[in-house]
Amino acid sequence: MLKGKHIVLGITGGIAAYKSVTLLRLLVKRGAEVQVVITPSGKEFITPVTLSALSGKPVICDFFTANTGEWHSHVDIGLWADAMVIAPATACTIGKMAHGIADNMLVTTYLSAKAPVFVAPAMDLDMMAHPSTTANLALLRSYGNHIIEPAEGELASHLTGRGRMEEPERIVEVLDEFFSRKQPLAGKKVLVTAGPTYERIDPVRFIGNFSTGKMGYAIADAAARMGAEVTLVSGPVSVKASEKGVTTEHVESAREMLASCQKAWPETDIAIMCAAVADYAPANPSGTKIKREGNEPPQITLVKNPDIAATLGAEKRPGQILVGFALETDSEESNAVKKLHSKNLDMIVLNSLRDPQAGFGTDTNKITIFRQGAEPLRFPVKSKREVAVDILDEIIKLH
Ligand code: C5P
Repeated sequence: MLKGKHIVLGITGGIAAYKSVTLLRLLVKRGAEVQVVITPSGKEFITPVTLSALSGKPVICDFFTANTGEWHSHVDIGLWADAMVIAPATACTIGKMAHGIADNMLVTTYLSAKAPVFVAPAMDLDMMAHPSTTANLALLRSYGNHIIEPAEGELASHLTGRGRMEEPERIVEVLDEFFSRKQPLAGKKVLVTAGPTYERIDPVRFIGNFSTGKMGYAIADAAARMGAEVTLVSGPVSVKASEKGVTTEHVESAREMLASCQKAWPETDIAIMCAAVADYAPANPSGTKIKREGNEPPQITLVKNPDIAATLGAEKRPGQILVGFALETDSEESNAVKKLHSKNLDMIVLNSLRDPQAGFGTDTNKITIFRQGAEPLRFPVKSKREVAVDILDEIIKLH
């Protein structure tokens, strides 16, 4: 599975750097193209000459080559990669990655990488056990990075404990397993709505809400990573989808969102309605700016917006899956269950505005999933990226 894969191998300054040579050889043997990026202290442990000879590419350490001024683009390397592996990853580099301290080529490349990242820590047992290391690794996990846990064994200090970098053969196996993992949504068409809708009052004003689109965009990206062809119908937001498999259609109002969804729905296998659609829109939006001078405050008559989820639910054919969201402030569970039935959904994801770590604008969410005829599934607080995967895993079980 590694044949032809573009792997960025990040090497940092630890004794285990000698094992990176074997790792590089094994990756190349399996047919991967490897670009080594090394930290300045990594070079104290292993020479770039060995690494460039084995990879067949110049090793990158600095932002530019001193004598020619040639610029090394961390963005290009980050985009080129199908995977990035940091082995060994020292406590220092793990800390910098966790906190975005981009003072070398390796960490800047990490921050630019769109591909999955694998981190193989290597350090002495006390450093490994320190709460700071534990917290930093937890942060990396929350960003979706894969931690290749260190083994127990004899360490460079001659002490014995946990902190030994995993053997190169095992790291290659982890990568191989990752690439050969079946993409569970391959061949599926997924429709996602995200963000708020804006309902015009006049050319400069609208009725909207605080939705930022983060949850819907995380779901669209996660579905694409699982192999789906994703149509993301998005209200006005400032976030962007990062996966190639996502086609974004930008809309403004609920009516526009409905039109895009109805167009896509007949061909869709799974629709996930994450948008915070305005319930009402001004009946007669003014074509010109409503003036303040001398006028009485305007009376704005509202009309009901179409319910997009319920419209798709009414048109649902066997085999299609429709998932809704419920953002509630009170009677959360009973309201969510009511919507599951009234909109003909297969699943509804509840997040409560009472929970400070859930809802609008946060990077985390805490959800409960309700399905037809099944017990609710309650999840702990997680990053929206992880929540997206949990939701899709449950949808896959329904399919
Ligand atoms: O009824 P309520 O707005 O709470 O329902 C929330 C669910 O219905 C969400 O999945 C939301 O995206 C969807 N919805 C919709 N069109 C509306 C209102 C809500 O698709 N007009």
